[in-house]
Amino acid sequence: MRIGYVQMEPIFGEAERNLRRAKNMMKQQNADLWVLPELFATGYQFTAQEEAAALAEPVPEGVTTQDLILFAHERCCHIVAGLAEKAPNGAIYNAAVLVGPKGQLSLYRKIHLFLEEKRWFTPGDIPFPVIDIGEAKVGMMICFDHFFPEAARTLALRGAEILAHPANLVMPVYAQLTMRARALENGVFTITANRVGTEARSDKILHFTGESQIVSPSGDVLVRSSKDKEEVRVVKIDPTAARDKSLNPYNDRLADRRVDFYDS
Ligand code: ACM
Repeated sequence: MRIGYVQMEPIFGEAERNLRRAKNMMKQQNADLWVLPELFATGYQFTAQEEAAALAEPVPEGVTTQDLILFAHERCCHIVAGLAEKAPNGAIYNAAVLVGPKGQLSLYRKIHLFLEEKRWFTPGDIPFPVIDIGEAKVGMMICFDHFFPEAARTLALRGAEILAHPANLVMPVYAQLTMRARALENGVFTITANRVGTEARSDKILHFTGESQIVSPSGDVLVRSSKDKEEVRVVKIDPTAARDKSLNPYNDRLADRRVDFYDS
């Protein structure tokens, strides 16, 4: 199975251009599963709730989701992409979709909102989703969810073998470190698709930190990108490596848990 990511620099508010850029980058290589960054179509730094509402799209009717479904069909692949979702009740979510070649669609809404996202978005209300895409079971989490080990653990307990992790990281190093731990402690592959570039739409300047990465169930970094360049990377994996949770003949990452001694 070939899994990959696009590390790109979206331009704020230029959804059509950003979508075209992501597709052109994915066309550079073949993959069975792609991950695009968080909010890859809109950009990240909103300055008003009205702005988020104006740029958010309904799922699945919105142009971005529809176009990704078409691309997944044409290229026979699955894509996880972060986007701003306008729900039927008007709520705006920092969301991710997983689309497949036969028109499949799954939705996740970011549960742990970061910084000013709390001003623009409603916190997610959908349990962490795991989707069987044929070659593997894929779980979705978004950016700051990495800080909460419960997110990755919940996805692993639900059978995820690959964690798709769209991101817009502004703190260097943290997620590259935590996602190695998330992969190792749960025995799963992780794909973190971060973005690069800067947004300075208010007096706060945000530098996005790149270093997208793919990690194996033993915590090895299979590939990691630069801090500041757009890059497309694909690696070949055997997803069955994420099915055996044993560390040695005596220890199993999931079966050895002592849940009666843990606080929730
Ligand atoms: C983040 O959650 N975008 C850091």
